[in-house]
Amino acid sequence: MKVVSIIGARPQYIKAAVVSPVLRQYAQEVLIDTGQHYDEKLSQIFYEGLTIPRPDYDLHVGSGTHGIQTGKMLMALDPILEKEHPNWVVVYGDTNSTLAGALAASKLNIPVAHIEAGLRSFNRAMPEEINRVLTDHLASKLYCPTQQAVENLAQEGITEGVVLCGDVMDVLWDKTPDNPDVLARLKLPSKSFALATVHRQETTDDPEKLRNVLKALGDLPWPVVLPLHPRTRQRIEQFHLQALIDVPHLQIIEPIGYQDMVTLERHAQAVLTDSGGVQREACRAGTPTYILRDETEWTELIESGQAVLCGTRYEHILDAVQHQRVGNRPTLPLADPVRCIVEDLQRGYTSHA
Ligand code: UD1
Ligand code: UDP
Repeated sequence: MKVVSIIGARPQYIKAAVVSPVLRQYAQEVLIDTGQHYDEKLSQIFYEGLTIPRPDYDLHVGSGTHGIQTGKMLMALDPILEKEHPNWVVVYGDTNSTLAGALAASKLNIPVAHIEAGLRSFNRAMPEEINRVLTDHLASKLYCPTQQAVENLAQEGITEGVVLCGDVMDVLWDKTPDNPDVLARLKLPSKSFALATVHRQETTDDPEKLRNVLKALGDLPWPVVLPLHPRTRQRIEQFHLQALIDVPHLQIIEPIGYQDMVTLERHAQAVLTDSGGVQREACRAGTPTYILRDETEWTELIESGQAVLCGTRYEHILDAVQHQRVGNRPTLPLADPVRCIVEDLQRGYTSHA
């Protein structure tokens, strides 16, 4: 069995770090990095800190508008997929690299396997929602992290090839020990601080929303550590919001490696985030989680009381943190999602071979 896996953005490096080693026990894997993320702290740091094989192809696509970035990826992927002609193309999550990989493969009649299929925020203004919906409709294998994801697909008429495997991120999270050095380095005693991340286009590109969120972070009842995504850093400069982060209460740091991030998620008093992966992980740690969005594709975190949606308005964020009780219910471990996916791919390959 030959598999081409396509990655290119931070959460995809992390997912590939757990899937690729197992996949390589069953298949010849060709790894393509689109180069959507290229800053050392968004890409190289994961190749070095996690066991991700070096990519066979590095497309160096870089940043651009959605159309230009996705278009460049399609142009670069087309000849590679034609040459490699794999049995499967594996794509992860909901980024432009995901959609480009799925589209390039399906145009060449190569079956697509989508890891993290079926998630829906039902907000089509999110570029990620468009990527998810289109990728799921192109995929032949849809590996769902949750039962809700399976149901979302069924509502769109997709039932064939759907497998409930769990979230591959859980596997890595479970086997990653703390790095106590990060708490010492940042001078953050356990349970004395909040961890925040903000990078969604709908928040960062709206000056009012970004202002509200940053102001609320500065007024939380704990010191806050904020590993800053380059997109957010650029928008803070563009909208002249620097004064809001130059406050003693906020510790602004560069994006950090996976083990350091997981350690902060576990030792924080609270996590405030608009990230999909971070909200999942913080809940897994049993840390009270406040989602800086109006909706989430991980709805079961809200239903179980592990997280609350607090939106992006200043008073709503502070009110949620002060009055809403959340967290303290770590997610239980599941059967191995990675084996579930890889063995299903192998079965699909053998039945067609
Ligand atoms: C992308 C994904 C998002 C995911 C996130 C993970 C899409 C549409 N969005 O968002 O779903 O949650 O990755 O972190 O695919 N930039 C740099 N250096 C880099 C990469 C980006 O400075 O290495 C800056 C550029 O100005 C760029 C901006 O960040 O224009 C946005 O980057 P992009 O890859 O388009 O989207 P993300 O916001 O990173
Ligand atoms: N992450 C990291 N360092 C950081 C911020 C996040 O290692 O500075 C990890 C985080 O633990 C999670 C993943 O990146 O595993 C989430 O990626 P991101 O928030 O960029 O994207 P999303 O999940 O929202 O698509």
